[in-house]
Amino acid sequence: MRYFPGMTGRGQSIVLIGFMGAGKSAAGRALARKTRRPRFDTDEIVSARFGLSIPEIFAAFGEKKFRDAETEALRQFSHETPAIIVTGGGIVLRPVNVQLLRALGMVVNLEADEETLFRRISRRATRPLLQTENPRATLTGLFRARYALYRGAADASLDTSGLTHEEVAEAILKCIESL
Ligand code: S3P
Repeated sequence: MRYFPGMTGRGQSIVLIGFMGAGKSAAGRALARKTRRPRFDTDEIVSARFGLSIPEIFAAFGEKKFRDAETEALRQFSHETPAIIVTGGGIVLRPVNVQLLRALGMVVNLEADEETLFRRISRRATRPLLQTENPRATLTGLFRARYALYRGAADASLDTSGLTHEEVAEAILKCIESL
């Protein structure tokens, strides 16, 4: 297992954060393959807990219940098991989540420019927060409101625009080795 020097007292997981469309899920899958570590995805865990899709959870229970379940999912992760942990784009909204994630391991923020994010997100209507009259403007608002939160929570940030999922995973591993 890789060891992150200088991270005494923190777990050995690789935690992916970042805006919707930053490529967290695909990079997480590639990382899990390359490192042979288990992969956990907070969206998948919350969805399984409710037995519903994310849009269905938002519609039936509202965003707060979704956020509560997200925090609950983070509390269940073990500090002993080095894993790949993929998070939903809103995970940084609660300071307690950031604390929990940083305790689990190295937090990597995946970034992309707004146009790239919008292009990727527009492929599927699975993001309830963007089901608005003007999703492009909504994205800009959320992006600006959250940018500093992602940066502040992360040990490292990586621009994924123009990179394949494999390249993103390689870049993350290289970045970890250089720490
Ligand atoms: C959200 C991002 C989504 C999902 C939910 C809310 C957000 O995850 O958790 O729709 O607030 O940014 P992805 O980042 O995987 O799309």
